[in-house]
Amino acid sequence: MNRILITGALGQLGIEFIKYFTKSNIFVLATDIRECKNEIPCEFIQCDVLEKNKLNQLVKSYKIDTIFHLVAMLSAKAEKHPFKSWKLNIDSFQNIIEVCVDNEIKKVFWPSSIAVFGTDSKLGCVPQNPILNPSSIYGITKLAGEKLLEYSNKKFNIDIRSIRYPGIISMSTKPGGGTTDYVIEMMDSAINKSKYVCFLSKNTELPMMYIDDAVSSAIQLMRADKSKLSVKDSYNVAGFSITPEILKKQILKNGFKIDVEFKPDFRQEIANTWPKKIDDSKAKLDWGWSAQIGFEETVKKSLKF
Ligand SMILES: NC(=O)c1ccc[n+]([C@@H]2O[C@H](COP(=O)([O-])OP(=O)(O)OC[C@H]3O[C@@H](n4cnc5c(N)ncnc54)[C@H](O)[C@@H]3O)[C@@H](O)[C@H]2O)c1
Repeated sequence: MNRILITGALGQLGIEFIKYFTKSNIFVLATDIRECKNEIPCEFIQCDVLEKNKLNQLVKSYKIDTIFHLVAMLSAKAEKHPFKSWKLNIDSFQNIIEVCVDNEIKKVFWPSSIAVFGTDSKLGCVPQNPILNPSSIYGITKLAGEKLLEYSNKKFNIDIRSIRYPGIISMSTKPGGGTTDYVIEMMDSAINKSKYVCFLSKNTELPMMYIDDAVSSAIQLMRADKSKLSVKDSYNVAGFSITPEILKKQILKNGFKIDVEFKPDFRQEIANTWPKKIDDSKAKLDWGWSAQIGFEETVKKSLKF
């Protein structure tokens, strides 16, 4: 991991990976379909990840050796645009794999999601290898992606590694259209003293993770000894699990006033097929994973943002 290309670099995760790598003096070429309006501490090139030739050129001219492929249409947005999300999430991943094969790039990080599970997955606390029966189009693309990576690693002798992220909490970028976005939105409303209408019911329990743990889990996995990795598709990782009501109470505990109305919409249906808790014992055993930041600290850090 010396010269890294990040796709979807201006999104919630991308911005944080840029900060991490540049602080560690690792070369980063950030790419995104959007124009970069703020200053970022690395090279940036506007590029649609569906343009394979352009990606190929960039990889060659910048001598890239590792790709963090972060482009995806997230769950709630994808449900509104199922065909576009299939095309973006799947075709972009195929492009990255082809670019890797053409340029002999071995190392790739590609995030999967807790959307990959489904109602048959023992949602109370999902194990590493449950029955996977996602019903959202986003979850279906993540399951297809997991299978594509497993196939490609074997077929082309590459080393794509993956994590099934829970909802990621960070305040430095706007959330990208996911089913766990309510966490960031509610804290944002508390900071801005505005009323919040929550799109999930107050007792919907979902797994979450603070951004610092999301970044360090990926780095730890990418640096792990390959011989220790027993999971061939994507690793479960856990932070903590909360409901909207628990979040509201924690915001109040921190001295903020917040008026929340619970008005579930179509995203409730997606959340009902997602896990409450995650069993990440395989990640702990194989590469020493352990979340460092709990719920209370996450809320404190986020409200101070
Ligand atoms: N954020 C979460 O809570 C979460 C949870 C689980 C998994 N993930 C996964 O992590 C990855 C990153 O998520 P995120 O939250 O940073 O997403 P995001 O929506 O914040 O960022 C995605 C970025 O991709 C860019 N993009 C969209 N179409 C593009 C295209 N055709 N070419 C180039 N760039 C394009 C967007 O402009 C955006 O900046 C995704 O694969 C997502 O599925 C995220």
